[in-house]
Amino acid sequence: MAAMARISERLRVSRKIGAITESATLAVDARAKALQAAGEHVIGFGAGEPDFATPAHIVEAAIEACKDPAMHHYTPAGGLPALRAAIAEKTRRDSGLVCEPSHVLITNGGKQAIFNTFQVLLDPGDEVIVPAPYWTTYPEAIALADGVPVALPTTDASGFRVTVDQLEAARTERTKALLFVSPNNPTGTVYAPAEVEAIGHWALEHGLWVVTDEIYEHLVFGAHMFSSMPVAVPELSSACVVVNGVAKTYAMTGWRVGWMIGPDDVIAAALNLQSHSTSNVSNVAQRASLAAVTGDLAAVAEMRAAFERRGRVMHQMLDAIPGVRCLEPEGAFYCFPSFVDVLGHEVAGRVVDSTLELCELLLEEAKVAIVPGEAFGAPGYARLSFALGDADLEEGVNRIAKVLQ
Ligand SMILES: Cc1ncc(COP(=O)(O)O)c(C=O)c1O
Repeated sequence: MAAMARISERLRVSRKIGAITESATLAVDARAKALQAAGEHVIGFGAGEPDFATPAHIVEAAIEACKDPAMHHYTPAGGLPALRAAIAEKTRRDSGLVCEPSHVLITNGGKQAIFNTFQVLLDPGDEVIVPAPYWTTYPEAIALADGVPVALPTTDASGFRVTVDQLEAARTERTKALLFVSPNNPTGTVYAPAEVEAIGHWALEHGLWVVTDEIYEHLVFGAHMFSSMPVAVPELSSACVVVNGVAKTYAMTGWRVGWMIGPDDVIAAALNLQSHSTSNVSNVAQRASLAAVTGDLAAVAEMRAAFERRGRVMHQMLDAIPGVRCLEPEGAFYCFPSFVDVLGHEVAGRVVDSTLELCELLLEEAKVAIVPGEAFGAPGYARLSFALGDADLEEGVNRIAKVLQ
């Protein structure tokens, strides 16, 4: 390799970007894939995506879009007008929130919507309350916007729910926003409509922004009900940003289409930001998403039924393992069991002191990949995705049970 150029005394990579931690979920996935490539039969519970293919009518729409020369060129940075209109309509249909197409900004996945939102809302030192366990990207996106993520721990004893009293105790004069997500990744918690309303009223009363992530809105099980905060508390609409996308609902994680819905000033600012960073999202993927959000929800219902069944099986199997405690998932596609009673004990001839160690050991001894709770601000727990086939699911949990015994 050529000698490295001398870059004076300064850091080669900026402090801000150098401080970003690797995504633990992707790291687990990479290790599992490396073992697999070496010929091991690894069962991966790490992936945060549906195992189904994208429904055929959506793929067909993309093929048609490829043939349309208008799709070969730049389009408006905020998204195809037809898609923005369709998402406004779909949102009214699905959550009851009424908004104009101009309030919808199409982004490169829900991830870019989150990134844009915090860039637009935060000044240095502004605090954002993030209930834990949280999806790993939130604190990083807040820190990248020079904000301060304030984690608010919850446990399985409360079903991983925060109360208004806890939120109030975490509020300071620097608090600018609350990050809210239901159904939750990694816990599968779905807040009841009355809880959503109470939290929305609290935010409204204290003049806080709410960033509400609705990406799992359709993956809700049994009697649990999805509730959108700006619908539960309409007065909050002018201080609320809704994040959503096609990834989880339509098995479209690789297509990279999401959106944010917010008031005029926030959308205008996010559009400016996006026009200098990524410009329009791939037109072909936007046209596929148009077919997704304007189509019926039959394929979605089928996938949800499969997830619900698998979630029940996984929960029962995990909860039956001595030392493991697992709540039944209420939505999304994750179980988030506690391994606290296993810690400090010998597992496969080794004393295991953290879920980080436990997950490494399970990968080595059982060839099973699960994500340690440390990645979600919740040591003592681990996340298992049930977005995989039934046979692997049962085999994988049996392997865990065997090692733990
Ligand atoms: C809670 C939550 N929000 C948003 C996203 C972002 O999804 P995407 O960027 O694939 O649309 C994810 C993906 O894992 C998620 O779990």
